[in-house]
Amino acid sequence: MPERAPERSASGGAALPGGAKRDPILVADGLRRAFSGIRAVDVDHLEIARGAVTAIIGPNGAGKTTLFNLLSGFDRPDAGTWSLDGKRLNGLPAHRISRLGMVRTFQLTRVLARLTVLENVAVAAPGQSGERLDRALLRRRWRDQERQVRARARTLLQRFGIDHMADQPADALSGGQRKLLEMARALMTQPRLIMFDEPTAGVNPALTQSLLGHVRKLQAEGLTIVFIEHDMDVVMGISDWVVVMAQGRILAEGPPADIVAHAGVIEAYLGRAHGLEKGGATESEASRD
Ligand SMILES: Nc1ncnc2c1ncn2[C@@H]1O[C@H](COP(=O)(O)OP(=O)(O)OP(=O)(O)O)[C@@H](O)[C@H]1O
Ligand SMILES: [Mg+2]
Repeated sequence: MPERAPERSASGGAALPGGAKRDPILVADGLRRAFSGIRAVDVDHLEIARGAVTAIIGPNGAGKTTLFNLLSGFDRPDAGTWSLDGKRLNGLPAHRISRLGMVRTFQLTRVLARLTVLENVAVAAPGQSGERLDRALLRRRWRDQERQVRARARTLLQRFGIDHMADQPADALSGGQRKLLEMARALMTQPRLIMFDEPTAGVNPALTQSLLGHVRKLQAEGLTIVFIEHDMDVVMGISDWVVVMAQGRILAEGPPADIVAHAGVIEAYLGRAHGLEKGGATESEASRD
């Protein structure tokens, strides 16, 4: 088992942003990304503790998804460096980053509707370039290793309880099942660190509990998990550490109880008006599912 608990702040309360962790797996410095002059991400320093479940919270438009896009190689920063276990990731495309052990899921699930559920998982091996693969390329890729890939994909579908849908077209899945499919896909690369973008948004309460169980199990298996979440019950329920973002910056970080007790954070950033509330899905997600 890896070390779990990140360092607490010296004060014992919500830590200052950018604090050092005992054993960081991911370290980012000076990460910036602007769109039309608006700084979507403006992070001076961020460390993610190995083996921890870290929640990233913040109002709509805070830059949470953009941060994931940058870290996972789906978008390029204007400036900044970041590394996974000391390996610099700057400039690497997403499939290389996923091969190095860091994968992410998407806020709006990306299933290949015309492939089956099983094929959707299988295309994630070994990289995450499935979006660009058509069926013919997929078959070529599978020529040598099809059986192993399929077996592994099927095992993952069983793990997430959607193996009965394996041969259905992926668009037959419900919104919640798509979230499970995304998790299964992410695991095809046998990552060390997984980033989930709003895994519970638009998902019914029973499936949310099941998703949380999966996250806990992944952590117990030694994975590091970073997830973006609006539902504070979920955040309090499974995270070891919480990072608060607003306007691209990290405002505060600390253990969940300390973050919730941090009056300024609650008033300014966890209020209903800012889109963070119990059971709150983003507008885009709500309309999607
Ligand atoms: N591709 C893009 N082009 C232009 N602006 C963008 C793009 N992606 C994000 N932005 C802007 O960057 C800012 C941060 O967006 P981002 O999606 O990262 O926020 P978020 O914290 O994930 O929000 P939400 O909770 O609603 O998902 C917003 O102002 C958004 O409009
Ligand atoms: Mg987002």
